[in-house]
Amino acid sequence: MDERIASRIKLVRGDITTLNVDAIVNAANTSLLGGGGVDGAIHRAAGPELLAECRTLGGCATGSAKITRGYRLPTDHVIHTVGPVYSGGGRGEADLLASCYRESLRLAAEHQCKTVAFPAISCGVYGYPLAEAARVSLEATAEFLAESELPREVTWCLFDQPAYDAYQEALAAAAD
Ligand code: APR
Repeated sequence: MDERIASRIKLVRGDITTLNVDAIVNAANTSLLGGGGVDGAIHRAAGPELLAECRTLGGCATGSAKITRGYRLPTDHVIHTVGPVYSGGGRGEADLLASCYRESLRLAAEHQCKTVAFPAISCGVYGYPLAEAARVSLEATAEFLAESELPREVTWCLFDQPAYDAYQEALAAAAD
C-alpha cells in the first residue's frame, strides 16, 4: 500500500457512536430496521428519528449501502451497509464485503465527507474471520482512496482488542 494512502487510514479502539467524524458506517441488516451489535448501539445513540428515516429507505441489499442523517449522534451522516454472512468463504463473501466498503466510501465522497469511521463489518454476528475481513476491507479501501481525494481519512473503530490487533497486523502487512 502506497504510504500516502496508508497515512489516510487510522485505527482506534472504542465505541463508534462517540466519534465526531463526518460519517460513521453501520453494520446493518437488509431490513435497515435495527438489530444488535453496532447496529443496536447506533440506533440507541441516534434516537428514534434514525429508525423513522430508515423506514423510508426500503431496505438494503447485501454489499450495498444507503445514507441517512446522524440525528443525536455527533456525526452528520450514518452510512448503513449490509455485510455478508460468512459461510466458509466459498460463496462470494470477500467480494460482497469489499463492495460494502467501496459503496460506503462512494456515498461518503458523494456527500463531501472528509472523515469516515467503519466498524469491523460482518465480524460479529455475521461471523467473518477477523484476519481475512481486515485484509479484504483494507485492500478495497486502499483501492478506493487511490482513486479519490475524499474521504481524506478513514478510521476503523474496533470495539475489542482481537479486532484491533487483527487490523493492526493487516495494516502493517499491507504497508510493507
Ligand atoms: N462500536 C464499534 N464497533 C462495535 C460496536 C460499537 N459500539 N458494537 C459492536 N461492535 C463491533 C463488534 O464487536 C464487531 O467487531 O462491530 C463489529 C460487527 O459486529 P456486529 O455488530 O455483530 O455486525 P455484523 O457481524 O456485521 O452482523 C450484522 O448484526 O446487529 C445485527 O442488525 C445487525 O443483523 C445485523 C447483524
